Amino acid sequence: MTARTPNPAMSLDAAIRERRSVRGFLDREVSAELLEEIFELAQRAPSNCNVQPWVPHVVSGEALHRLRDELVQAGRDHVPPLPDWPADGRYPGVYRARQVDAAAKLYGAMGVERSDLVGRHAAYVRNQAFFDAPHVVFIFMHQPFDTREATDLGMYAQTLMLLFTSRGIASCAQGALGLYPDTVRRHLGIAAEYRLLFGISFGYEDTTVAANAARVGRADLGEAVRFHR
Ligand SMILES: Cc1cc2nc3c(=O)[nH]c(=O)nc-3n(C[C@H](O)[C@H](O)[C@H](O)COP(=O)(O)O)c2cc1C
Repeated sequence: MTARTPNPAMSLDAAIRERRSVRGFLDREVSAELLEEIFELAQRAPSNCNVQPWVPHVVSGEALHRLRDELVQAGRDHVPPLPDWPADGRYPGVYRARQVDAAAKLYGAMGVERSDLVGRHAAYVRNQAFFDAPHVVFIFMHQPFDTREATDLGMYAQTLMLLFTSRGIASCAQGALGLYPDTVRRHLGIAAEYRLLFGISFGYEDTTVAANAARVGRADLGEAVRFHR
């Protein structure tokens, strides 16, 4: 693996089109050099007043296995989540319709019926297993920060995921990885004043995993964007 890839052979448009959530990974690590290159470049993400509020913790190897075991157990045992920012996952109106459509595409690809609550719970626990990814990045921000800085974290995350895509690395952003922040902090030795928003599992795609056949669409331009003159 070369240490630097200054011109990955993918346009920005192609990276935006090709990035998608991948939920099954090969047991193959990304090289340390490539990880460094990607995370260094992701630092170019914009932020309010350039405060760069993202605090990413990248976890691999033994540390990942230990954390994964505990999170999976919590998921399997239905341990009540205690996220730093509570969210009930309920959306109204058109947002609900989009949520249901995305879930139908995913569970459809996996062959899990909507009424199959056991199958759906098993699919949910795959989140806590990082979908078998060899790496995960947990994105924290410091205690006083809130909504404004959370937008910065979103920009950072998309910058990161496009960099992954441009280098052939698959990823999945996961709010589900923010459900047990105390466990993540304890494993990684992170102070309570750092609060966890979400995680991103990443690595090389396992194209044989059924979930990876899922494709979701988007609202049309006319439905999404209002142009004012
Ligand atoms: C902040 C954030 C949190 C997400 N949380 C989860 C999650 O917990 N589990 C999951 O499987 N997908 C999760 N997703 C992936 C979305 O379902 C996905 O981005 C959306 O359906 C669009 O599909 P695409 O990424 O394949 O284009 C999350 C995405 C974002 C941006």
